Amino acid sequence: MDLRWSCAGCKLPGMEPPEMINAGDLVLKRWEPEWAPEATAAVRESLPELKPWMPWANDGYDLAASRSYIDRSVESWAAGTEFNYALFTTVGDVIGSIGLMTRVGPGALEIGYWIRTPWAGRGHMTAAVRVLTRVALTLPGIDRVVIRHDAANLASGRVAEKAGFVETERLAVDPTTPAGSGTEILREFKP
Ligand SMILES: CC(C)(COP(=O)(O)OP(=O)(O)OC[C@H]1O[C@@H](n2cnc3c(N)ncnc32)[C@H](O)[C@@H]1OP(=O)(O)O)[C@@H](O)C(=O)NCCC(=O)NCCS
Repeated sequence: MDLRWSCAGCKLPGMEPPEMINAGDLVLKRWEPEWAPEATAAVRESLPELKPWMPWANDGYDLAASRSYIDRSVESWAAGTEFNYALFTTVGDVIGSIGLMTRVGPGALEIGYWIRTPWAGRGHMTAAVRVLTRVALTLPGIDRVVIRHDAANLASGRVAEKAGFVETERLAVDPTTPAGSGTEILREFKP
């Protein structure tokens, strides 16, 4: 087990992040159960891009899977362990997900993300990561924000790099996704 990721029950020490965040062309909103059908459509449409990298993305992904994800997001928000947001365009399309996780341990938050394929490559995730990083660093007790991605996941690495995250460590891991290379890169926001 990687002890750096063993903080399963770690809670945010102070105030929680806002439920809604404006990020230029996008709005981040805390996940709500009523968005499960739209989330299912977004994931299903993006499976070719998600399956290589996301352990939960598979051909059987359905409404029950989305509901379960959103239910867990509601619970973990209440527990103070994870803060997951749906990404919306200004006209109300659900185009992905981004979240803050406490699992890296005290004083730090980790950002995770995916985007709906038709909206990829337009700078949206970089913009969302930039804003969520700023928000994370305003939270009491938080002074580090990190991103972890497979070394072969060049798009994710590029998003992190563009948003100001520099590589601090490489970790040997057992791959948990089809394209996993066995090496993960840990990056930290360095303004
Ligand atoms: C990673 C991901 C969220 C990027 O979202 P996005 O909105 O397309 O990101 P942006 O448009 O802000 O930036 C993407 C950057 O990656 C680059 N990129 C995309 N695919 C690439 C590839 N195969 N190789 C190298 N660079 C790549 C783009 O050119 C762009 O960089 P640029 O602005 O310098 O040209 C999206 O690809 C995705 O959802 N991937 C699957 C899920 C995933 O891997 N999540 C992260 C797990 S750690």
